[in-house]
Amino acid sequence: MSASLVLGIETSCDETSAAVLRGETELLGHVIFTQDIHRLYGGVVPELASRAHLRTLDDVVDGALREAGVGLGDVDAFAVTTGPGLIGALLVGVAWAKAAAWAEGKPVVGVHHMEAHLFATQLQYPDAAPPFVALLVSGGHTMLLWVPRWGEYHLLGATRDDAAGEAFDKAAKLLGLAYPGGPSIQAAAEQGEPRRHPLPRPLLNRGQRPGEAGYYDMSFSGLKNALRLLVRALEKEGRLEAEIPHVAAAFQAAVVDVLASKTMRAVKEFGCRRVVLGGGVANSRALREAIRWRLGKGGDVFAPAPRLSTDNAAMIARAGVFRLERGETSGLDLNARADLPFPGLVKG
Ligand code: KG4
Ligand code: ZN
Repeated sequence: MSASLVLGIETSCDETSAAVLRGETELLGHVIFTQDIHRLYGGVVPELASRAHLRTLDDVVDGALREAGVGLGDVDAFAVTTGPGLIGALLVGVAWAKAAAWAEGKPVVGVHHMEAHLFATQLQYPDAAPPFVALLVSGGHTMLLWVPRWGEYHLLGATRDDAAGEAFDKAAKLLGLAYPGGPSIQAAAEQGEPRRHPLPRPLLNRGQRPGEAGYYDMSFSGLKNALRLLVRALEKEGRLEAEIPHVAAAFQAAVVDVLASKTMRAVKEFGCRRVVLGGGVANSRALREAIRWRLGKGGDVFAPAPRLSTDNAAMIARAGVFRLERGETSGLDLNARADLPFPGLVKG
């Protein structure tokens, strides 16, 4: 299977993407179309996402094939995100991949979106292979994992409420900054002093021990409420505008402190100083730097470039190759599932 061509398709949220991967590492073509329409609403509107996927997927696939210099008939297998995600959006990709597989007489394999985020980093850094501690942080998910080998994922902790990216998006909305929130908060925070407005670090205190509830879990909704109160107070005093860089810096510092501290707890428990970051929030410079600094010399933090850390089809193709190498294919009854369980996930 290793020299074969896999076409990956991703339509789980607001990126329409297709990629052609040869073997495990050779990315021959990769197109990502980010649906801009959602900016108008400050968040993804599911129905608009599905319609935009329907309109663009054919062209996106054509683009990836053209870039790779191959035709649809050269593809050996199709890999498609089947979940988790927006059901209408997922169905567009799944229907497309199944139709292509049927028409070409080639296998199709369903891929779990979050497992694919784990594989994304290795497309850029071949050394980002297990064992490692993984922090998957996106608009919909926040998971801390111990990965001793591909296919075996120990869930150490997750968010109890908002995902880390969602927290950034909601905070940006409160501050009147653009969607998606992470990058705009990062930009505003550059001129800010993070200690000027102290914000809480939910579920983070020194007394916690491994095995205790809350040792690895995270929570961001209380932080969002603290931010709301701060914004209201500053607004009343007519100081909000001037304080935005400092408030953005304080918020970013609080989220990053929680994420980096929980990650370091796993590094310590498993004696593994290799950390893989995935998902859109992995783009956060503050997060990368905090983990790099805390790991110190002899530690490695692997964070993929923006094209590979946000939603993309290259990672879907890569995770598909892993499943195909294990002899797994899906039938034409393959279906999308908004809450698809993570394959190989074990608690603790
Ligand atoms: O993985 P992704 O592209 O889509 C989902 O599957 O959700 O992640 C998008 C999320 C958004 O919430 C966005 O605000 C966040 O990633 N994000 C960031 C940064 N860049 C993107 N969060 C913090 N700092 C960033 N620099
Ligand atoms: Zn994602």
